[in-house]
Order: sequence, then structure tokens, then C-alpha cells
Amino acid sequence: MTRPAADDFSEPWAPDSWRALKASQQPIYPDQKELEGVLKRLAKLPPLVTSWEIETLREKLGQAALGKAFLLQGGDCSENFEECESPIIARKLKILLQMSLVLVHGCQMPVIRVGRLAGQYAKPRSNDLETRQGISLPSYRGDMINRLPFRDADRRPQPKLLLRGYEKAALTLNFIRSLSDGGFADLHHPEYWELEFVKHSPQAARYQEIVNTIGKSLRFFETLAGSKVGDINRVDFYTSHEGLHLHYEEAQTRFIERVGKWFNLTTHFPWIGDRTRSPDGAHVEYFRGIANPISVKIGPTTRPDDLCRLIERLNPRNQPGRLTLIHRFGADQIEESLPPLIEAAGRTGKVVLWCCDPMHGNTETTSQGRKTRDFNRILEELNRAFTVHRQMNSFLGGVHFELTGDNVTECVGGARGLTEADLGKAYKTQVDPRLNYEQALEMALLIADRMEKGG
Ligand code: PEP
Ligand code: CO
Repeated sequence: MTRPAADDFSEPWAPDSWRALKASQQPIYPDQKELEGVLKRLAKLPPLVTSWEIETLREKLGQAALGKAFLLQGGDCSENFEECESPIIARKLKILLQMSLVLVHGCQMPVIRVGRLAGQYAKPRSNDLETRQGISLPSYRGDMINRLPFRDADRRPQPKLLLRGYEKAALTLNFIRSLSDGGFADLHHPEYWELEFVKHSPQAARYQEIVNTIGKSLRFFETLAGSKVGDINRVDFYTSHEGLHLHYEEAQTRFIERVGKWFNLTTHFPWIGDRTRSPDGAHVEYFRGIANPISVKIGPTTRPDDLCRLIERLNPRNQPGRLTLIHRFGADQIEESLPPLIEAAGRTGKVVLWCCDPMHGNTETTSQGRKTRDFNRILEELNRAFTVHRQMNSFLGGVHFELTGDNVTECVGGARGLTEADLGKAYKTQVDPRLNYEQALEMALLIADRMEKGG
């Protein structure tokens, strides 16, 4: 079916027009027929999100792009199927809610909450193959594609895992929706979000102070108005994942007659990863046609002229909230690499929302071969991001973290002073190291401090 792309009516587009281009980071399925069968099935299943929600989010991101709201995006590097369990999902929601409360307090603006969840099951990898003791097998690419154990049968990409991923995403989202609708996310009761170990955390007192202040303001406002603040009974929560596996994304792309546009209905806010953002590549082709708000990861290898082309292709009609640029340079690179990109984006005259991912440029390998990230380097990149934007007459409108609501030991540092020697205690990630609950809350408190002083 050919219908106009969401934003650019000059070039024809279809959900499958990306297939004519080179798509990097795609698994190779031994059985194409099986894949086509699964995709047909996927295309018939009901969507996970609606165009109404997606449009509301785009409007909110438009506010953030104008400096009137702040984006908080976070979750696992890679979700896995086994962790589709109620306590784990609830803890992820809790930490994001707690962080958002702290940030609202610090920046005195609405905070837009977006989880990297309910579909973050496909990962880009540096190498197609992994070799151990002379044996090479396909790299693990996320639970929706193959399985982690280093065995031939597990590493073979299986189309049916796409259906399992869709189902796990639906289960996750269903639980999150029930929690947020059912009063769990009520601002009158932040104690519902409290994680057991907050009480023992070095940040407990500061967090409690913020909760008390917000509670007091709410009660004051309600006394003044003579009624409860209705909207505050629930907070909005949105989902995102890397739109990497283009067959999967295409299968759930629908034309919505009401709006006259195509939407990706697997998630509200998909992003293009740093490895797949070539302006002429298949991912950019797919993304330019959907009407969702989208983001692109940019890093040290992004050239200013490529960034201009990306912006022109992805936001030709200059819609605020349509395009978020998530920069991930590393603390050492950001001061040198970010300014030319801010300048280049400025030359296009298009509104973009700038967001900092301080995780992916600060990954190190320990002497024991474990991937880790240092809390201080992460914080340093964020602080530098605020400063560089301010110096360039721009502003940082959001943050993007890999984190979990669990008490893992994957990143070093933070108030509890986790060291390399501690990493073995609860190192659970299958891909990148995440901030644990305490580190994430501490990070939010430190960003809030900075924003309270004007960013
Ligand atoms: C990620 O977000 O997990 C990721 C792979 O990031 P990037 O594309 O920025 O490297
Ligand atoms: Co990652």
C-alpha cells in the first residue's frame, strides 16, 4: 500500500520501503518462509499503544523542546523474557517515578516519563559472530532474536521469538497500565512507590524531604482550591525501545484514518541507534514515514553534515517534539564533539529536543573482563552537557539512562562506593551495565540540584 509518509509528502514511502535499502544489524534467518509467516501473524495482532497516546506524547515532547518540560528516559539496556515478572516491572516503574518526582522538584517543570521497556528486546552488536575456544556462533542479539547461552541451537535466530517478544511487551505494558490507572502512581501516595531498601539508602533523608515538600504543596493547593487535584491521581508513563528489527517494526505499522498518517504501534517513542543512523540507510527510511515522536542516538562519529541531513529527513516539517537527539559522547569527548553538532542543528532552523545519554560513551572493561561504568564519569558527562548547551545558547531538555529498580552491582561508584571488587555480587545484565536503584536515585538528586541552580 502506498500512502504519504508522515512528514514528507514529496517522496513516496511505505512501511516496507526500507527493504530496498541496506539494513544493518539485522539477524539472518535460515528459514525465510517461517519469518514471513510470523510477520503476517504479528501484523494481525492488536496494537500495543494507540495513536492518541502517541500524539499526546509528541505534544509533551514539543513542550520539552521549547524548554517547558523535561524528559526522563530510562530502563534496561536489554530487557529479557525471564524478567517479565511483576516485582521486577513494578520496581522499574517505581524508580522512574521516584526519579521523576525528584526532578520535578529540581526543575519546577513537568517531567515526561519514558521507560526503555515493553519491547527493548533487540540489540545491535559490534560483531556478527562470537568466538569462544575456537568455536564461532552468531552473537546474542536480544531475546526477541536469539538466546544468550553459547550453544548452536540457542544462538540461531528464531522468528517465533518475535511473537514471544510482542507478547512479553504486551504483558509488561498491561501491568504498567493497571498500576498507573489503579492509584499506584497517585502523587498523594508516593509511599506506594517506595522500594524497600530506600529506607537504608544513603539518599533516604533527602528523598523523604522532597516527598514531604511535594505533599505539603499538594495539600496547600487542594485546601486553597477546596477539592482534590484530579489529574494528580495518576501520572502518565510512556514506552520506548530501539527500533532496530525493521521487520518487527514494519509488521505493527498501521495507517490511522482519523489522523491520515502511519504510526508504529509497538511503542510510543522508538529510537534509531548510533550504529544504524546512516541518513541513507534503511532505518532512517523506515523512521521518516511514521508519525511517532522519534529520537536518534548521536556520538563521536556523527559528522555535522550528516546530522543536518538526518534532521532534514526526519523532521522536514519542523514539528516540535517530532525529533529528539540523544547524544552519547563520553565524559572526555563531549566538550569537543557536542558544540559543532549543536551549531549544525541550529543551521537547519528546525526545533529539536536535546537529551543526554551519559551511559554509552563511558563504558569500560575491568581487569576481570567485566563491562562497567563509573558513576562519576556518568555524572561528569551530564554536568558537561548542561554547561556546553548553556554556552552555546541551547539547553539540555532530557536525560537517558540505563538503570534498574533492582539492587544490582554493575556500575562502580555512587554514595555506597561500589568498587570493582563488588561487581561480582549481583552482576546480572546480559548486555550493558545499569545504574542500580540507589545510584539512579542519587543521580536524579544530583541532576535536580544542578537544575535548581538553573542548569
Ligand atoms: C543502547 O541504547 O543500548 C545502545 C546500543 O546505544 P547506542 O546506540 O547509543 O550505542
Ligand atoms: Co546499552
